[in-house]
Amino acid sequence: MFTEAQLYSPVTRERDGDVTVHLSDDHPGVGDEHYRTRRNAIAALALDYRPGNPVPHIDYTDDEQQVWRIASAELARKHEVYACREVREAAARLALPRDHIPQLDDVSRLLHPLTGFRYVPAAGLVPLREFFGSFADRTFHSTQYIRHHSAPLYTPEPDAIHEIIGHANQLASPRFASLYETVGAAVGRLETDAALKFLADVFWFSLEFGVVREDGQIRCYGAGLLSSYGEIDEFRQATLRPLDVAQMGTISYDITHYQPVLFCADSVDQLVDVLGEFFATMDDDTPARLGGRAHPAA
Ligand SMILES: [Fe+2]
Repeated sequence: MFTEAQLYSPVTRERDGDVTVHLSDDHPGVGDEHYRTRRNAIAALALDYRPGNPVPHIDYTDDEQQVWRIASAELARKHEVYACREVREAAARLALPRDHIPQLDDVSRLLHPLTGFRYVPAAGLVPLREFFGSFADRTFHSTQYIRHHSAPLYTPEPDAIHEIIGHANQLASPRFASLYETVGAAVGRLETDAALKFLADVFWFSLEFGVVREDGQIRCYGAGLLSSYGEIDEFRQATLRPLDVAQMGTISYDITHYQPVLFCADSVDQLVDVLGEFFATMDDDTPARLGGRAHPAA
């Protein structure tokens, strides 16, 4: 669950170079001057990053390390129960550290031998075309900030815990990594914003919030669920619909609440087949072809 309408807190840079991350009024860190200064500094490092430069090294504080340790331990416990086998096995191969926050270079070092993916820094929201398009080069734009220490199991925006524990564990699976690459290749073909939005929405309901039937249970593979301590328990209460890209690309949804409708694949094989085929063939005409009618969220 994320409460920012834009998902990420907006980041601005003034003429004098000052970088500001605009936290929402109900962000747990909004009243903490030290946290806000730190967020601005971490965002500035990402804004200054250029491909080919060294990825910024963040000297994480004890508070931030403690947040990582708590979230890692709790989410690992949840994954044993709620994550699908494909993700659990990928996570075991990736073996992210639980006692300290990995630098993005550390994540790349672990991930690259498994599936060729590398992590590069993002200050906040990356334009959709760039974010999804970079998957074609097996590159993932990741934020580096950590949620506020007053709420280690909650974040109103995607932080490094979401990007790494959610996405990297998924990207350590060759099958999921290859789906991401197919998404990136599709973006290279798309010219219209409507098609890009359709792709982003299908991605949202699959690689962010997708669930799959396994051994008679519903388990998750979406990064948004894998990294959400609150929502990972709740997804079994959601209305489940069969995998249907036309609905996934057109259903209306509200990112400020737990997703009331989720799309459930019969197996990882099925979701790889259906999504792989969709992303491999979608084009600018897809929204008109499949999006003839909007589907209500519930
Ligand atoms: Fe995400």
